[in-house]
Amino acid sequence: MAGIVACVLLSVVTVVNSQVQTAFLEYMQTRMGSLEERIAQWHDHSNRYSSELRDFKNQVLKMLENIEKERDTVRNEMENTNVRLDRLEREVDYLETQNPEPPCVDIDTKLTELHQQKKKKKEKYEKLTGCPKAELAENEEPDVQLSPPVNRKSYCSDTISQVNAMKILKRFGSNAGLWTKDPIGNSEKVYVFDGAGNDTVFVFSRMKEFTLSSSTRKVPRIKLPYPWIGTGHIVYGGNLFYIRQDEEFQVIKFNLTTKTIVDSAVLPIEQQVPVYGLSKFNYIDIVADEEGLWVIYATKENEKNICLAKLDPGNLGIEQMWDTPCPIENAESAFVVCGTLYVVYNTKLPSRSRIQCVFDVSGTISSEHVPIVYFPKRYGSHSSMKYNPKEKQIYAWDDGYQILYKLNMKPRDELY
Ligand SMILES: *[C@@H]1O[C@H](CO)[C@@H](O)[C@H](O)[C@H]1NC(C)=O
Ligand SMILES: *[C@@H]1O[C@H](CO)[C@@H](O)[C@H](O)[C@H]1NC(C)=O
Repeated sequence: MAGIVACVLLSVVTVVNSQVQTAFLEYMQTRMGSLEERIAQWHDHSNRYSSELRDFKNQVLKMLENIEKERDTVRNEMENTNVRLDRLEREVDYLETQNPEPPCVDIDTKLTELHQQKKKKKEKYEKLTGCPKAELAENEEPDVQLSPPVNRKSYCSDTISQVNAMKILKRFGSNAGLWTKDPIGNSEKVYVFDGAGNDTVFVFSRMKEFTLSSSTRKVPRIKLPYPWIGTGHIVYGGNLFYIRQDEEFQVIKFNLTTKTIVDSAVLPIEQQVPVYGLSKFNYIDIVADEEGLWVIYATKENEKNICLAKLDPGNLGIEQMWDTPCPIENAESAFVVCGTLYVVYNTKLPSRSRIQCVFDVSGTISSEHVPIVYFPKRYGSHSSMKYNPKEKQIYAWDDGYQILYKLNMKPRDELY
């Protein structure tokens, strides 16, 4: 009996067991089925995504190609324009060298025109009214105003507002050099220093002689007792102040009448470094302004920025020194106007020179108040830019071309 009961129980358990197993298996199958379905869906999606991604990549590549092509065309066009511009500039230069004008002719013709206009007006007035018009109306400029008064302190509160005009006078000598006129006195002589190291100065009696000369064979010259270094020299008050490199840098004061050395000095500056990042041959640049002579230099101690000092032309003593905020890097040249240092910058591949840092020793002007002043683009880089305080123009040497830049000034207080 017990055996039968056990047997029945066992078979019941077995039946129940097999039922449970079947249900479990079915459950597992549906689960797995749905999982499979989802995996298939994922596959589908990821296939779609990757093909979409591929398409997108292709599109982007195509767009990039087009952009590249467009850039090439634009670059080609720009190069063409540049070449044409260059050619035009050269043609203008050629025309200018064929018809050299004396530097003042523009002003003169303008004044004559003005005069004639006034004369005509006067005649018309007299014809209409029948009575003579009073001479020298209020707004008429008297002829004596032709050359502005110079070296008056009150005249010297000006700052550069722009480069008003440029004139290419000649192509003479090598890439680097310096040409200048004495701003003191009435001498018309033009002094030309060809190269950043030589001992022979050419002296042309007048500007015209320089622009018209075709060879230096007959040009008077001065052989200096020691060769010069750099392009930082200046003729001032009948003396030449030039830089010589012996063991140290020396400033030599040379009497141009007697052709003798008057004085020489080693400046109290230690460990000098090139003062302009783009014109490495200059360690000392002596410049003139309305107030006298200045020395622009740089030292190892203040490696990044340009320094300025006031030079006594009498005994070559340094009166005062300043560290300026103007960086040496990418500086090409500099000059002082009315006690303010203007540093001209360019790029290693020469582009347009620009005044981008200003330092006023009286502290009334600072760089942020002065707009950047651009020079017209010419040939290469300026190896020297000498400001002539009498003429308010810059004698520049640009890759062997001698150029005059006429400056437009405005009063300091208009800056604010
Ligand atoms: C100085 O320049 C002349 C040409 O003007 C040249 O013949 C001469 O070799 C130069 N001298 C030096 C020392 O470079
Ligand atoms: C040059 O020397 C002569 C003779 O000593 C002198 O008369 C003349 O004034 C000097 N020139 C300058 C600019 O100092």
